[in-house]
Amino acid sequence: MPGKIYDLVFITNTDDIRTMYAKDGPTPKMASLKLLEQVRKGPLHDLYRSPGLSASGVEWLDFRQRIQQDMMRPKSALFYMEDLSEIMDEVIAKLLSSVDENQEVCNMRRTFMQYGLEAICKMFIGSNLGVIQENEDGKKLIDTTTRFFVLFSILITVPPSILTFTPQYKEFVECQRVLYNICKKHMDLALEKDRIDGSLEGTVLERLLKRNGRDSNVPIVMAVDSMVAGVDTTGNAASILLYDLASNPDKQEKLHQEIVKVTGKTGQMTEASLTELRYLKACIAESLRLNPIVHITSRTSQEDMVLGGYKIPKGSFVVRNNAVTTRDTSYFDNPEKFLPERWIRESKEHVKVDAFANLPFGFGPRACPGQRFARLELQMVAFKIIQKFRLGYHQEPIAIQYIGIGKPNRDFNLKFVQR
Ligand code: HEM
Repeated sequence: MPGKIYDLVFITNTDDIRTMYAKDGPTPKMASLKLLEQVRKGPLHDLYRSPGLSASGVEWLDFRQRIQQDMMRPKSALFYMEDLSEIMDEVIAKLLSSVDENQEVCNMRRTFMQYGLEAICKMFIGSNLGVIQENEDGKKLIDTTTRFFVLFSILITVPPSILTFTPQYKEFVECQRVLYNICKKHMDLALEKDRIDGSLEGTVLERLLKRNGRDSNVPIVMAVDSMVAGVDTTGNAASILLYDLASNPDKQEKLHQEIVKVTGKTGQMTEASLTELRYLKACIAESLRLNPIVHITSRTSQEDMVLGGYKIPKGSFVVRNNAVTTRDTSYFDNPEKFLPERWIRESKEHVKVDAFANLPFGFGPRACPGQRFARLELQMVAFKIIQKFRLGYHQEPIAIQYIGIGKPNRDFNLKFVQR
């Protein structure tokens, strides 16, 4: 029926969000990923051999089950604590080398995207790529993932009948070829090294290889998907988190005091200390609430449902706008305020929040499988930087701009004062 699948329903009310997820079923359908699936089943089938998590129905479920346990168990991310700490040391050295005469650092966004990429490479390819030092493959990966998002947001609006003839589609295919080839090159090197020295022992990659077999395409497709889904998101979230802390000095000081109390002025973040760093976790939860990087989640409804009092037929495109919900006064007092205390149970600002009012990583079977890695990456950023520096921000407030995903609406400088 022409036009039917283009019916669009936007929801922001938690009752409707609850209904949408309740009707998700075991294989939630995301029409927006069709484009990715089409490329991996079409021109790049020989490379990918599977659309990975861009598939739908049982094909998606099968892939998801192959990665679910190894990605979602808490220990998987915690295993990388030391690696992330070392990557952050490189990031700090780089930021310091770019401090100007006012002790300010500009354009941190790219550096934190490099941090996100280096972290993904370490975790899912088993390799230190040297992205922060701007090596050639690292630069290519950053530029390609950024371009990927721009092309993706253009191409999902192009009618299917002309899609494959557009130059943007051809470039999009090329982007996916480049991502695959670079990941494959470095993963093969890591596997080679592992055969000699067992260097992958205990890693997510080793687990994925054990579960799916050494010839399986699951680890490599998951590495590309993690790159596509986990670099811009974490990179933007990290620079916005630092902006939030810089522009709320009282909260920043409270965080610093917690860090010093738990780990001392130069101690490391460990699995044990992380359990005590409650204000740190609250700062991250609050920054993700105030600025949800992935502001929308979409579903093609698989059964009729009632949303906002309207009967919504099966096959409609339902879009949850998280950025509206998380700033709605029906769910949060002073929603525009950065108030980490609202997530600390003993605090007087704590109010029990409707669980569906703040879902930065989605919900249900299709929720973000990288959330534990993303959270740990952000925790490491805030821990390392606030332990060493007092951040300052003295210009006009920035806003979040949503083009594909959320990012700061302009470059901004932060003052880094050594403590
Ligand atoms: C701050 C950082 C991140 C945010 C805010 C975020 C958020 C999200 C959200 C909202 C979804 C959609 C969930 C749904 O449809 O219900 C998603 C999906 C996904 N994310 Fe993340 N994510 C982040 C980082 C990461 C990282 C680091 C990785 C990889 C390690 C990752 C991998 C994925 C993948 C593969 C999917 C698709 C899952 C599927 O369709 O089965 N994300 N993410």
